[in-house]
Formats: sequence, C-alpha cells, structure tokens
Amino acid sequence: MFGNDDFHRDNNVAKALYELERRFFRGDVKQRTLHAFEPYYAAIRSTAALIQSHSEKQGFLKAIYENFYKVYNPKAADRLGVVYTPNEIVRFMVQSADWLCEKHFGKNLIDRNVEILDPATGTGTFIVELLEHFRGRPAKMKYKFLNELHANEVAILPYYVANLNIEATYAAITGEYAEFPNLCLVDTLDNTDALATHVGQHFGDLLGGISTENVERIGRQNSRKISVIIGNPPYNANQRNENDNNKNREYPEIDRRIKATYIKESTAQKTKLYDMYSRFFRWAADRIDHDGIVAFVTNRGFVDKRNFDGFRKLAARDFSDIYVVDLGADVRDNPKLSGTMHNVFGIRIGVAISFLVKRRNATGNRIHYGRRPEFETREEKLAFLHTATLDKAAPELIRPDAHSNWLDLATSDSTGLLPLVAKATKGAKSRSEDAAIFRLFSLGIATNRDD
Ligand SMILES: C[S@@+](CC[C@H](N)C(=O)[O-])C[C@H]1O[C@@H](n2cnc3c(N)ncnc32)[C@H](O)[C@@H]1O
Repeated sequence: MFGNDDFHRDNNVAKALYELERRFFRGDVKQRTLHAFEPYYAAIRSTAALIQSHSEKQGFLKAIYENFYKVYNPKAADRLGVVYTPNEIVRFMVQSADWLCEKHFGKNLIDRNVEILDPATGTGTFIVELLEHFRGRPAKMKYKFLNELHANEVAILPYYVANLNIEATYAAITGEYAEFPNLCLVDTLDNTDALATHVGQHFGDLLGGISTENVERIGRQNSRKISVIIGNPPYNANQRNENDNNKNREYPEIDRRIKATYIKESTAQKTKLYDMYSRFFRWAADRIDHDGIVAFVTNRGFVDKRNFDGFRKLAARDFSDIYVVDLGADVRDNPKLSGTMHNVFGIRIGVAISFLVKRRNATGNRIHYGRRPEFETREEKLAFLHTATLDKAAPELIRPDAHSNWLDLATSDSTGLLPLVAKATKGAKSRSEDAAIFRLFSLGIATNRDD
C-alpha cells in the first residue's frame, strides 16, 4: 500500500523480528500458518490495491489497527486502549496546544527546543497532525521531524502502522522520503529514567532491548527536555467490573508516585487510582518537570469523581493553567445516553480533553472549563471541535471549594452534616466520643469471586 516493500529490512525493530522469524518460523509451521492467513491477506491486498489517496490510506490503516486488534485479542485491545482518535479531536488538541504554547511561553510548536512527545501513539495520528500543522514551513518542519518529534508505542502492530503512517505523511507533504528516527517500541510507564522524581532503576530490561537502535532511541528521548506531551493514553473502556478480570499490570515506580501524591491527598475511603490514565497523567506531570504542557484526551472521571479529589488538589497546585473541555456522555452517570450515539469514542465512559500548563514562575492558578450539552450527539461534538478554539470551548472559570471539588459546588458541600459512619466512632471506647450515627459498618455483601 505504501510502496515500501523494504520496511522489514529498513526499520530497526522489524529487522530484529524478521531475523527471529527467519530462524524459527520455517518449514511446515510456516506453510501451514501462512496458508491459514491467506484469505485475510488476500482481502487486505485487494482492498489496498484500490486505494489511491493518502487520506484513504490513513483511514484504511486505522481500520486495520482497531478492527483487527479487537477481533484478534479483545482483552488486550481493551487493556491497551486500541482505538484511534477521531481527527477532529486530534486537530483541536494540536491547535490548542500551539495556542497555549504561544500564550504562556512565547513560542510555537514548530520553534526550536519545543520537543513534543506522544507517549501512546497508536497509528501515529498526533504526529501526523503535527506534520500537517507544520505544512508550508519545510526547513523548520524537517528539523522538527528529525529531532524534536517523539513517539512511543508498546504493541508491535500499531508500532509498524505508526511508523509507516508517519513516514508516508512526511513524504506526501515534503515530496522526499526520510526515516522517522524518534519512534520507540517501549512501555512508556516503565521508562521512568527521565522523570524528575526518578530514584534509579533502569529501562535495560524493557522491551527497549529488542534492538540496539531502539535502546539508543529511548536513551536519546530520555536525554531531552520534553515540553509538550500530547496524546490519547489508554483506559479500560469496556471493563465493567472486577469480574471481567482484565487487570492492568503493575508499574512499581509510577504506582508509588500515585500513592505518595494523588492517594495521599485524597479523603476518599477507597481510592483506586491505579488505572491507566491516572498513571499517564502522573508520568507526564513528572516528565514535564518545570515548564510545559500536558494535553490528553481521557476518561472524564477526574473532573468530578470523589476519589479523584487528591488528583484535583495537586493538579490545581502544580499547574498554573488548566483547561478542560468536558465531552460528557458517561452512560453510567446518565443511562438515557447511548455510547454509540453520544460518546465521541462510541464507549460508555465519559470523555474529556484536558490541557495542563506548568510554569515555573506562575503566580496563582486558573481552571477553565466547558461542558458540551448533555444530549449532544457524537457528530455534533466532533463538528463543534472542528471549528472551536480552546478559549471558546472552555469559557468558565472554576474556583474549587476547600475539598477540591470543581463541579456541583452547591450540592457537594456535606461538611456541615453529621456523618452516617466514621472510623473514629467505630473504634471509640465510650459513647461520648461518638461522632457519627452508626457505630458499626462493613463492606456489606462482597463475594470477592469466592467459589
Ligand atoms: C487510544 S490508543 C492511541 C490512538 C492514537 N492516538 C490513534 O489515533 O491512533 C492508545 C495506544 O497506546 C498504546 N499503549 C498502551 N499502553 C502503553 C504504554 N504503557 N506505553 C506505550 N504505549 C502504550 C496502545 O497499544 C494503543 O495503541
């Protein structure tokens, strides 16, 4: 499809895997396996042969990425968040990040020393859109492409797709082919070497080791000061409850940071913040260090869920300017909504686009917020983002209350009320110490999946 039949000989990771394949994937096993794949390959070949334009190619790659993965391994697809980001969202985020960069740092994304990273790149849509954004400024764009655009991906299929997509887009815009040297096959959350809070551990045993060049690329990325982190990190969109048993793995260093920050500052009894998008927020906030912007589209839970109070408290403290465009459509909060009709990703979990600006010498903090109408459809939301600017999309200024609530301030203040239960009352020796209505409380019925 890309006329790039030598990909497996050119790309460093593909080369290593091809070598492995040459040694182990032979003879009868190879024949039988390829025979089983043939109808699938034939369908891809015949469709690909009809595709002419660059944008059609991109659409085709996205379809392979998302649809193939969901059938091939639905649990991994959910855990890794294998779903592409609609272009209206990507473009809105790139344009808004550029506007914020200029407003707060007096520079544009295309300028020197503004290094940009997509930590969960999928098909590479954010890097591709950045290249489109830089169209018309060839010299600056070439420098950016070769030196200051970075992307990570942990799964091999999207890694290949991103690589082909990014290089083909660069060639389509500039008329010349160049290898994209800053795509790393790595688990971003494991790669903690370059975090401001890092306490020594090394990425040596990670996926990175698959090729020497990949290790060098990760090392190079880690040596850079990253100013803008932009992307669509994963979250388990379909896991409805614990029994789905599609748990994410642990990330010791990031999880320790979450415990020492978001959880420590939370007043919620049970705080489960080890989901993928909190981890990516934690990683990005630590990676940016002093000055920079984090732009993510994620689950909207952090905006108003009780267990995210610690997150909100620290976000308001650590970032000088926060912008949230709340796209709503959480089907569990409002069962009258439909995921496929109202949600921009066609899922049941509400979605928000956020921009967090960190500035060393900032005084004070401002939280800008905008929410799309409850019953707005997916198409209407995307059409809105297609033309919106960030200041119009997040027009309200929010003043958090003393408990780090950002929304529903009038209804969420329960401080003056007598609690139903309290730990102090449960453990109290005498009645005079009672501070709550009931002394005894427990979890209630919880099977814990016990036989
Ligand atoms: C929501 S998708 C990104 C979609 C992308 N913006 C696009 O439009 O194609 C998230 C991607 O992050 C990758 N990913 C998940 N966890 C990761 C991790 N820990 N490190 C790096 N990449 C990860 C997944 O494999 C998936 O391709």
